[in-house]
Amino acid sequence: MTKCILATGGAGYIGSHVVTELLDAGYRVVILDNFENSDPDVVRRIKRITGRNVSLVTGDVRDRGTVERVLRMYNVDAVIHLAGKKAVGESVADPMLYFGDNLNGAISLLTAMKGAGVSRLVFSSSATVYGIPKTLPVTESARVSVTNPYGRTKLIIEEMIDDLIASDPTFAAISLRYFNPVGAHETALIGENPRGIPNNLFPFVAQTAAGERDRVQVFGGDYDTPDGTGMRDYIHVVDLAKGHVAAIRRMMSENETGQHRRINLGTGTGYTVLQVIEAFSKACGFPIPYAIVPRRAGDAAASVADPSYAKQCLGWRATFGLDRMCQDQWAFNSRVQAAEKMPPSRTRPNGKMAEYSPLPQPPLVAPDRLHH
Ligand code: NAD
Ligand code: UD1
Repeated sequence: MTKCILATGGAGYIGSHVVTELLDAGYRVVILDNFENSDPDVVRRIKRITGRNVSLVTGDVRDRGTVERVLRMYNVDAVIHLAGKKAVGESVADPMLYFGDNLNGAISLLTAMKGAGVSRLVFSSSATVYGIPKTLPVTESARVSVTNPYGRTKLIIEEMIDDLIASDPTFAAISLRYFNPVGAHETALIGENPRGIPNNLFPFVAQTAAGERDRVQVFGGDYDTPDGTGMRDYIHVVDLAKGHVAAIRRMMSENETGQHRRINLGTGTGYTVLQVIEAFSKACGFPIPYAIVPRRAGDAAASVADPSYAKQCLGWRATFGLDRMCQDQWAFNSRVQAAEKMPPSRTRPNGKMAEYSPLPQPPLVAPDRLHH
């Protein structure tokens, strides 16, 4: 029987790519999402990309009753937990919002999984748990140290999973520590276009290329890196999504029982801010304006993954390079921008995911409803 995976937050940026790869790999998938940072239209797009059906439950992961009913109703075999809040600055300004959402979401999900007898979990963690890395590349045994409430929620949830497994060794989990996910699906139908001014480099560069911002502000030009600007391990979101499929495969094997693995998902190659701007300029065909400004508080000079444990444990490695990340991000932003220039009747009110697409639209499939 085909295995069924529940993806909490499956309509989001990373979740939509994960769901696409799971469907392509032949899994049945249920998305649970409250759409606080995504659009239901994404689910229709996933169906267009894959030609497969995906079940959708509109709901909140903090609602334990709903989660438990979903796990039972769909005979879920494993969960990928992506739902939650992710903006570092917002978490510093309002820590209780982040503890309330991210920690309560995890408590609700883990309790529901125990109740329904579902014992396999993949958790979206982050390289932010390494704080300012002391040595590069960063291995999974590097000391953890959080620098903001968002990062603290990731660390606490990882530790919560440890304690649950200690109490119930039938359980198994993999926490995937993402480095810097960027880019979009090759169809340009799914990707990330944050509301408001982007905090992260890639969407900011893309919006500058699209003429929505005057110039990229390069935070710091005096770091100890080859050109003085910050260095990161950018990973194509499709590579990242394939890492989740590999993690699910691994988790389904009997001898994973009782294990909680932490695994880096990165490429092992670092690029500076100026290298990203240069590669993006090549992708869009014209130079992107920038100015070097003071450092951003809390930023590390450099963060690069050691991806060897992911290769050894999951048989996975990233395949796309920086040029492809920029090309796919640019194609996605260009499509969204073209959509936003359509007459108002065809543009969504929040401007996030526009209805317009150059490809023919299949009929909208009504989302599955959860019966109480
Ligand atoms: P996203 O905001 O695009 O996706 C999160 C999804 O979860 C959204 O669709 C949102 O509507 C949904 N959601 C939020 N709270 C929910 C709730 N209480 N109940 C149900 N649905 C809820 O974010 P993303 O970039 O796709 O990130 C996914 C996960 O990966 C997050 O846990 C994030 O912390 C983690 N992560 C992201 C990055 C990154 O750079 N994007 C890096 C490291 C880790
Ligand atoms: C940020 C978060 C991190 C999170 C990650 C992925 C902070 C301090 N850290 O990491 O917790 O896991 O996003 O979502 O927010 N840069 C510019 N100009 C910009 C934006 C960024 O120069 O407008 C630089 C930064 O200084 C950094 C690099 O670009 O050197 C990447 O920045 P960003 O995309 O925000 O990711 P991180 O800082 O790695």
